[in-house]
Amino acid sequence: MTAKQFFSKVQIPSAEPYRVADLRARVERYLPELAASLSQVYPDAEGVVARVAEILAHNLAARSAELQALDLQRVHTPDWFQKPEMVGYIAYTERFAQNLRGVIEKIPYLQELGVKYLHLMPLLLPRPGESDGGYAVADYRQIRPDLGTMDDLETLTTALRHQGISLCLDLVLNHVAREHPWAEAARRGQEKYRNYFYIYPDRSVPDQLERTLPEVFPDFAPGNFTWEEEVQGWVWTTFNSWQWDVNWSNPEVFLEYLDLILWLANKGVDVFRLDAIAFTWKRMGTNCQNQPEVHALTQALRAAVRIGAPAAVFKAEAIVSPEDLIAYLGQGVHYGKVSDLAYHNTLMVQIWSSLASRDTRLFNQALLRFPEKPASTAWATYLRLHDDIGWAISDTDAAAVGLNGAAHRRFLSDFYKGDFPGSFARGMHFQDNPDTGDRRTSGSAASLAGLEVALESGNRHLIDQAIERILLAHAVFIGYGEGFPLVYMGDELGYLNDYDFVHDPAHKDDNRWLHRPQMDWAKAAKRHQEGTLEGRVFLGLKGLLEAKARTPHLHAAFPTRPLWQANPHLLVLRRNHPEGVLVQVYNFSEHDQPLPWDTLRDAGIVQPYDHIGEAVAPAYLMGYSRLWLTQK
Ligand code: GLC
Repeated sequence: MTAKQFFSKVQIPSAEPYRVADLRARVERYLPELAASLSQVYPDAEGVVARVAEILAHNLAARSAELQALDLQRVHTPDWFQKPEMVGYIAYTERFAQNLRGVIEKIPYLQELGVKYLHLMPLLLPRPGESDGGYAVADYRQIRPDLGTMDDLETLTTALRHQGISLCLDLVLNHVAREHPWAEAARRGQEKYRNYFYIYPDRSVPDQLERTLPEVFPDFAPGNFTWEEEVQGWVWTTFNSWQWDVNWSNPEVFLEYLDLILWLANKGVDVFRLDAIAFTWKRMGTNCQNQPEVHALTQALRAAVRIGAPAAVFKAEAIVSPEDLIAYLGQGVHYGKVSDLAYHNTLMVQIWSSLASRDTRLFNQALLRFPEKPASTAWATYLRLHDDIGWAISDTDAAAVGLNGAAHRRFLSDFYKGDFPGSFARGMHFQDNPDTGDRRTSGSAASLAGLEVALESGNRHLIDQAIERILLAHAVFIGYGEGFPLVYMGDELGYLNDYDFVHDPAHKDDNRWLHRPQMDWAKAAKRHQEGTLEGRVFLGLKGLLEAKARTPHLHAAFPTRPLWQANPHLLVLRRNHPEGVLVQVYNFSEHDQPLPWDTLRDAGIVQPYDHIGEAVAPAYLMGYSRLWLTQK
C-alpha cells in the first residue's frame, strides 16, 4: 500500500489543515518501517497493513484534542524522556494511595521528589485469586474494581499530565490469564481463539521444546506446559499454569494488541512497559527468548503507534544478558526503531555486587564490555523494583577479573540472604534451583543494604554506615546518566523487608512480596523531621535527584564510560558533554580513600567541583561517598 492510499484510510475528514499535514508526515515517515517489519513476520504483510490502517483510523478519530497537542509537543521534543530532570517512581496503587483517586491526592508527594514519570504496577483487571501481582490479566479494558474505573484512570492521567508527570502502565503481552475472554473462548472450543495460544494435543512437541526451555518459576510453576482438560491439550504456560502464552505468529494477536495500545494511549497512558517481551516469539531448539521476530514485531507496533499516538513510548522489560538486551533498544535494521527505554539490569546487579565485595573491578569490566545504546534511547536505571534480583554475572566478565562466575553468583545470593560471614544484608532466596545452581534474591533495598541488621544491633555507627550505603547505591544509578532513574516506592524512606506477606494466601508462596511494602503515611510524615531515619534517607535521595536535574551532563543521549582504577574500591565514570567533562567518583568501601587525582587531571579537572554537595570537592573520600565532579 502506498503512503497516499494508507493516508486516505486513516485521515480524519474534519481535521484542520495543519493536523492533516502532520498526520500525512507521520504516515510517510513510519509506513515504510511498519511494512518492512511486518513482512519479516507475516506471510500476508500487505493484508495486515490494511488492517492496521483500519485500527489506526478509529483510534485516531477518538484521540482527544489535548492528547493530540501532546503528540505535537513530543514530536518536537523527541528527547523528552532523556532530559536530566526525568525522575521515575514505581508504586502499587493500593499500597501507595489505596486507589486511583488517592494517587491524585499524592501528586504533591511525588513532586517533592521531582517525579516526572510514574509507573503504577498492574492495575488492569486480573484473574481472581493468585494473579502474579496482576500480571495475569483477565480484561485489558477494565480497571481492578477496588482501584477505580477507566474514567478514574483518565482523570488521573489528565491530572498527572497537567503537572508534567507521565504515566507508565504494564502491557502484559506474552500471556493472558486463563480467565481472559480469549482463553475462555478457546476453552469453549472456538477455533479462532485456540489459534491465539499454543495448544498441543499430546506431549510430543512440548517434550521436545522442554529440552531447551528454562524454567522461570521452578519452585511454584515447574515446566512450561499445563494440561487443560477443556481444550484437551497442553497449553504453553511459561510463567504460572494460569498465565497462557499468546501466539504472536498469529497476526490477529498482533492486531488485538495494537488496538489495545492505541486505546490505552487514548486514555492518556504515556509509556507502555512491555512485560516479559523477551518471551514473545517461540522457536524450537532455542530457549524461546530474544528471537529476532520479537524486534520486528516491536518495530511494527511502534511504527503504528508513532502514527496513531506519537506521545506514547515503549519500555522493554527484558531482563536478559547485555548482548541480547541491546537489541531491545535497536540494533542493525531495527536501530532506534524499537523500544525507547529498557531496564539496565547489569547496572543494578553490579551495584549490589560491588557493595558486597567492596571491589569494583567486576563492575568496571561489565561496563567496559557493555554495548553502546542508540543515542535516541534511554536506560531505565534502578536499584530495586518489584521483582527478585537474578545474579546476572557473566562468566566471561568474572574470568576477566580473576573470579569464577558460578562461585561469585553463589557468594552474592549467600551474602544477600545474610548467610555469608560478615554480611550486612538480610534477604531471602527466591527460586533456589539445585539443577541449574540459579538462586535469586528477594528483599528491600534498605534491608539488603544493611539497615535492618544495623537497626537490630542498635549500633549507631552501623546505622550511619547503612544509610550511607543506601545513598551511595542510589547515587550510582541516579547519576548513571544514560537514561533516567526509577525510585521504587518505600526506598525513599528506607523501608525494610515486609514479612507480613506470609499471612496472605495469595502471596505467601511468592516471597517477592517481601519487598512490596505498604506505604505508611504517618511514618512518611517523619521525612520532614531532622535526624529521623526517614528524613535522612528521603533528604539524601531528594538531594541526589535535584542534583541530577540541574546537571546538564546527565542528558541520556551521551554515553557513560568507566575509568579503570588501580584502587579497587573506587568506581569512576566519565561523561563527555558539550558543556564539559563530568567525572563521577564512588567509594564502595566503608573506609576513607584518596581522590583519584591522576584520573581527574587527565579529564582536565584540577579544581574539582562537586555537583551533589554543590561545593568544592573534599580532599579525600570518606566511606561510601559519592561525588559528581566538573572543573570549577
Ligand atoms: C515480568 C514481571 C514479573 C512477572 C512476569 C510475568 O517479569 O516483572 O513480576 O512475574 O513478568 O508476567
